[in-house]
This record gives sequence, structure tokens and C-alpha cells, in this order.
Amino acid sequence: MTSLEAQARARVREQALGIAAGWSPPDAPPEWALTAESFRAIATEPDLLALAADIPADRLPPLLLSAAIRHLVARHAPAPLAGYYPTPGSGQPTLDEGYRPALVAFAREHAGELGQLCAEHRYQMNEVARSADVLAALSRLDPAEPIALVDLGTGAGLGLHLDRYRYDFAGRTLGDGDAALTIAPELRGRPAPLPARMPEIAARVGVDVEPLDLDDHRVLAWLAACIPPETTAVDRFAAASTVAREHPATTARADVVDGLLDLCAGMPRDARLVLVDTYVHVFLSGDERARFRRQLAALGRDVEWISVDPLVPLGGEGTESTQYLPVPPRALEATRQGVTGVIGHLSVGRDGTSDGEVLGLAHPGGAWLEWL
Ligand SMILES: C[S@@+](CC[C@H](N)C(=O)[O-])C[C@H]1O[C@@H](n2cnc3c(N)ncnc32)[C@H](O)[C@@H]1O
Repeated sequence: MTSLEAQARARVREQALGIAAGWSPPDAPPEWALTAESFRAIATEPDLLALAADIPADRLPPLLLSAAIRHLVARHAPAPLAGYYPTPGSGQPTLDEGYRPALVAFAREHAGELGQLCAEHRYQMNEVARSADVLAALSRLDPAEPIALVDLGTGAGLGLHLDRYRYDFAGRTLGDGDAALTIAPELRGRPAPLPARMPEIAARVGVDVEPLDLDDHRVLAWLAACIPPETTAVDRFAAASTVAREHPATTARADVVDGLLDLCAGMPRDARLVLVDTYVHVFLSGDERARFRRQLAALGRDVEWISVDPLVPLGGEGTESTQYLPVPPRALEATRQGVTGVIGHLSVGRDGTSDGEVLGLAHPGGAWLEWL
């Protein structure tokens, strides 16, 4: 092994152990154990580590490899390995000591196919539970005013349908009782607010450099493989992707910075313009973020921007809000403990004046919501 290969393995090992730790805090529900064990295996099993270390560093190697494995397991349904992974409605299968050897044997046998999948795909995580974080922030707007919703970096467009899901905030509910999906985060801190009624969405559009077409079964299968093998996450994705397919929404292929003015120009002026961004701004460069912020003042109309993004730079050292809002000490503390979504709301007036604050914190997979 060359020293470069050894370095790559050490880096990937550290990343995989970090992800495993994120899925195994002291209060982790038992359903998280399979995800944690999968990343521990990537970190410590030489065959898995070698596969992950072959993936370019900027393509999130441990996450991409874990998605490729799940994709291939879903395709080949090998026994006993396939039986360890939840499918929609299955509940969480029992994890036992047979999982790891089965995983390693499968990866060894299919190393070529796994390498090919990793070369062809990006890790694409769409998490509809973040809609609860957005909804809580929307409670600050006038409930009587319809919304023109622009979902920035929409991916598969699950966030475009936030009014079609039901929410349960520790027994306080909003949304249709017959909704296909109920999003019920554990509430921490002050009770997160719910809007007085479901926002009326007068117009909705998503934008993404790489929009994802859920009607393409290959796309759907890949996105499902990117969902952590945790039963509630798997069920949530299945339900939300069905909702999105039943309600086709407009999605533009564009860059959120370069395309912003054109996109907003197409939105009705008699509705409140709301830009939503979940886990998108964190991936922009400092220059792109600054250009985006400047453009808000150039829109020529009042705009609300709700962001659920980790502090930047991404990682435990993050200190700055992607919206340039003052960062409360609790957000810094949570960031040091693991990837945390920081919920911010910034209003920018047509005259260029602005006002905003950090409102809360959220688990990246929607497990909890902490209002500040
Ligand atoms: C981590 S995913 C989040 C998807 C979705 N918002 C969610 O929270 O589930 C980030 C998405 O942003 C898109 N994206 C990243 N940079 C972008 C840019 N400059 N312009 C438009 N879309 C971008 C990616 O293609 C990807 O679909």
C-alpha cells in the first residue's frame, strides 16, 4: 500500500467512525444500531475500507459506499444479508452477529459492481422530515397570507409538498388526518411552534442543479438506497415520494445563485415570497453565499428566507450562519457535538432592509427539533 492509499484509508476510517458515532449517542433508539454498525464495518473491515478509500474524497466515500451496498442488496436480495435491512412497512429487522460477516462477504463478491455504482452515482440524501423545521419557522408569517414557495436545492422535491403532510409536535397536530405521512420530531428545548393553520401555498417551484425525477425507477431506487437503513426513515421516504409523484410540481434545473432572480420573477406578486433551503447553502462557497445574500435585496419585493443548514464551515468547527445571522452559543455547542441543522429566518424588504434570527436547532434526519 502506498502512503497515499494509507492516508486515504485513515481519512475514510475517521469519517466512517464519525458517522457511526452520530448514530450511536447514549440515547439512540435501537433502530439506529444497523446504521451505526454499517459505518463501523466500513471503518474497520479491510475489504470495505479499501472500497471506500478508492472513492474520491469529495464524494463522501463512506456514505456513497453504504448507499451502493444497499442498492445492490435491494437488486440481488442475497440471503441472509437482505433480511437485515428494513423495507417500507417491515419494521426494523433484528440485528445480530451474522450481519457483519454477511456484509463483508457480499462486498467482496460484488466489489466490481460496487466500484462501478460509486463511480456512476453521487450520495443524494433527501430528508422530508426537515419539513417540520420549516413549518415551525413558517409560524412567524401571517397565516392569512398565501405563500409563493421556492424550494432551493429541492432534489426530489419532497420539501415542495410540506402542506400535504401531517405534523405531530408532542400531541399538537396540524394537517390532514388522512395524510400519507405524519412527521413527529421529538421536541427539545422550548416547544416548537406550529402555525395557526396550514400555510396556503399559492404557487410552488423547486430549483436544483440536478433535479431528480421520481418517476424514473432507477432514480427512485438510488434515492431509497441513500436513506439510512432505519425503519422510520425508510417509511417516511416511501410515503413522501408517493405524495410527490401524485402531485407533480415544477422544478427548474438551475443554480440557486445564478437562477434566483429569474425564478422569483415567475412567482405571483400577490403572495408572500418564501425561499426555503434545507442542507443546500452549507455546500455553497463563501463567494456564492455572499452573492445569494446580495441578490435578495435586488429582488424588488419583500422576501422571507428560511434556512435549515449546519453552520459553516461544515463540521465541528462551524461558527457562521449561512444566513449571516448572529449565532447563539447553544448552536455552537450542538455543532461541536455533531452535524446539526440551524433553523434561521431572514426577512429582506423591497427597500433592502433586513431582519432575522436563529430560531432553533434540528437533527439532520429529523429525529428531534429544539426551539431556542
Ligand atoms: C443535501 S441535498 C438536500 C435536498 C433537500 N433540500 C433535502 O433537504 O432533503 C442538496 C441538494 O442541493 C442541490 N444543490 C447543491 N448546490 C446547488 C446549487 N448551487 N444550485 C442548485 N442546487 C444545488 C443538490 O443537487 C442536492 O439536490
